Amino acid sequence: MNTKVVLYRASILHFPEATDVPSRDYVHFVDGGLVVVNGKILALDEYAVIFPKHPTAEVVDYRGRLIVPGFLDSHLHFPQTEMIAKYGEQLLEWLENYTFPTEDKFKDMNYCRYIAQIFLRQLIDNGTTTALTFASVHSQSVDAMFEAASQLNMAFITGKVCMDRHCPTYLQDTASSAQRQSDDLIQRWHGKGRNLYALTPRFAPTSSPEQLASLGELAQQYPDVFIQTHLSENAHEVAWVKELYPTHTNYLDVYEHFNMVRKRSVFGHCLHLNNDEWAQLSESGAVSAFCPSSNLFLGSGLFDIQSAKEHKVSIALASDVGAGTSFNMLRNYGDAYKISQLQQSPINPYEGLYYMTQGPAIAYDLSDNIGNLNPGSYADFVVLTPLANELSKLRHLGANTTSTATSNNADQTTVENASDMIFALSMIGDDRAVEATYIAGKQQKTPMENLNALA
Ligand code: GUN
Ligand code: ZN
Repeated sequence: MNTKVVLYRASILHFPEATDVPSRDYVHFVDGGLVVVNGKILALDEYAVIFPKHPTAEVVDYRGRLIVPGFLDSHLHFPQTEMIAKYGEQLLEWLENYTFPTEDKFKDMNYCRYIAQIFLRQLIDNGTTTALTFASVHSQSVDAMFEAASQLNMAFITGKVCMDRHCPTYLQDTASSAQRQSDDLIQRWHGKGRNLYALTPRFAPTSSPEQLASLGELAQQYPDVFIQTHLSENAHEVAWVKELYPTHTNYLDVYEHFNMVRKRSVFGHCLHLNNDEWAQLSESGAVSAFCPSSNLFLGSGLFDIQSAKEHKVSIALASDVGAGTSFNMLRNYGDAYKISQLQQSPINPYEGLYYMTQGPAIAYDLSDNIGNLNPGSYADFVVLTPLANELSKLRHLGANTTSTATSNNADQTTVENASDMIFALSMIGDDRAVEATYIAGKQQKTPMENLNALA
């Protein structure tokens, strides 16, 4: 086993524990050191404190950059990678016109493998080290995704979409085939390496009560698998669910009836919930996945941040690619910020970072492994640079004249104001701001100069 000790020197920011007030409970080492051995974090401290304790460590110098935990994207669709940014529809028409035809391509295993590779490169380029992603209805799309993620030793969560009605027949499974195939995939992948399985009924309209019942049985049989689906995204969808499930008191009650509302249940969107639904989410320990760029793109509505907070429902930020328009979680925070501004309750950068790292890691009972830089966690982390392009340099260092310099980073070797940097990158940054992405201690992002050489 490779027991090389590596000490990363940088400004370092994370949330070591659970908190309702991320802007208070963060830890920021302006000149920090992160020690990594065998793919896991051994220690984190001030560089001046940690260096003498590890005098033989290889030092990797990232001064001037900010290390944060790798990002968790809590809701997205890997089959929709090719159809990101398709013009002009709201949810139900968008599914009919773009999504279903694209997802049909996953009947071909070569296509599954091809897209899985591109998808993972997008995640890594943007600093996402764990994703909770929908696959397609085809079991092999799950195999392709887990195989590719396993190559990177990445903490990865996915599941076969289940849908047996109200979608093209070429994409339909049945109640019993969905149960059998999901069960097979759980046996094959759940808990293997860093992989975890998610039962994945697409949403209530495309599953018959029989199918939800069959998946609910699996949920009871496997209490630690994830459950991912959509909840209350679009007004027409909500009305449709009322018609299809008339005896249920509300949308969430449909999932509740079939044993799908619990810890490790992740509900995408949650835009049009009433107080009973918020209370039920809170009581169950389920998570609401806030998908800001998708909600704006499809014109679905605005996530009610105040209600989520008042009910103490865990919020996880998510890209929802391909309805979401960016794999970049910081950009998705940027959209969340704009939505929160409309609601006079701005989400500050610490909250934004928390909702894509330690917050969901705790809600998923995964914080022993991911979401933070605590000793014992996997060395899944991201190196952010404030100097990725001319505008970002100007924004962070100020103009290069003594009279107008406004830098918070005068010597360019430390990041004094991490919240300002995260905020600026959420508005004007992109994948270039992610200088490196480490997964289990291994740098997985292809450096820019290599990409240039390929061109
Ligand atoms: N609701 C049901 N399926 C989908 C999907 O693929 N994307 C989004 N945004 N909402 C959905
Ligand atoms: Zn979605």
